[in-house]
Amino acid sequence: MTLPIVAVDRELRQKLCSIVTQKTGIQLPENKSAMIEGRLRKRIRAVGVPDIRTYLEMVFDGGHLANELPHIIDVLTTNKTDFFRESPHFDFMVKHILPAHRAGRAFRFWSAASSTGEEAYTTAMVMAEHAKRQPGFQFSILGTDISSTVVTKARQGVYSRDDIVDIPRPMQDEYLELGHSSDGRALARVIKPLRERVKFAQMNLTTAPYPVEKNMDVIFLRNVLIYFNDAMQKQVVSAVTDHLRPGGYLFVGHSESAAATDPRLVQKAAAVYRKEAD
Ligand SMILES: C[S@@+](CC[C@H](N)C(=O)[O-])C[C@H]1O[C@@H](n2cnc3c(N)ncnc32)[C@H](O)[C@@H]1O
Repeated sequence: MTLPIVAVDRELRQKLCSIVTQKTGIQLPENKSAMIEGRLRKRIRAVGVPDIRTYLEMVFDGGHLANELPHIIDVLTTNKTDFFRESPHFDFMVKHILPAHRAGRAFRFWSAASSTGEEAYTTAMVMAEHAKRQPGFQFSILGTDISSTVVTKARQGVYSRDDIVDIPRPMQDEYLELGHSSDGRALARVIKPLRERVKFAQMNLTTAPYPVEKNMDVIFLRNVLIYFNDAMQKQVVSAVTDHLRPGGYLFVGHSESAAATDPRLVQKAAAVYRKEAD
C-alpha cells in the first residue's frame, strides 16, 4: 500500500522530535525530517490511519502518546549492528583483558546498547572459547537497549545466514544451529547453552541510576553516543562508568572517542578505556 503524501505540520513534527529527544537523548535535527517521516510510515501502516498528519493528530490530540511512544522510539532508533563489529575490540579483550581475570568469580560483561544481540553473542562466543583455554572460567553477559523490539529479537537469537558471515567458520559450526523459516529463508540460531548465558533487558541509558549491577569487568557502549548531544554523552559515559569496577574497561565506538571524557578513564587503545579510580 502506498500512503498519500501529506505535508506534515512542522509544529507537530517538532513536537514529536522534542519528545523523542527528551525521552531517549536521540537528536533529531530538522535535516532528518525525511528520514523521520519515512520511518514513521511503518507505524502508520500498522495503526491503519491514512497519513502522517492524521497519525500525529491522533498521538497528540487523541490522547495516544503514552501508547504510541514505545513504537515511535522503536522506528526512530537506528539498530545497525554486526557480529564481530570493530573486531580489534574483541582481539584486545582476548589478548589483554581475559587472561588477567582472576578465577573465583564470574567475568561480568555488559553490552549497553545491544540492539539485536550480535555484540553480546559475539562476546559469548569469545568467552566460551576462552573457557576452553582457561578451565573454570565463568562469565555472565547482559545486553540492554531502549527498543523493546530489538530486545525481543536479541532474546530469540535468530539471524539470517547473511548476518553470520563475519563469524569465523569454526565458531559458526560450534555455536550456531542452521535451519529455515516457514517461508524458506536460511536462518541460523545461537545454540541454547550459549543463549542461556546471555540476558537481555529493555533499559534507557538517559535515565540513571540503572537497574544493573555494579562492578562490571567490561562495558561496551558502542555506536550509541553519536546520537546524543555533548551534555548527554558526558552524562551517559559517567553513569555507565559508575558500573565498572576499578580496573574494568569501557569500549566506545571507534568514531566516539571524543565522548569518553570521564576523568576516571585512561585510554589504553583505540576507543578502549580503563577505569583507574572509583
Ligand atoms: C547503532 S546500534 C549499536 C549496536 C551495537 N552497540 C553496535 O555497536 O553494533 C545503537 C543502539 O542504541 C540504542 N539506543 C538509542 N538510544 C538509546 C538509549 N537512550 N538507551 C538505550 N539504548 C539506546 C538503539 O535502540 C540501537 O539499538
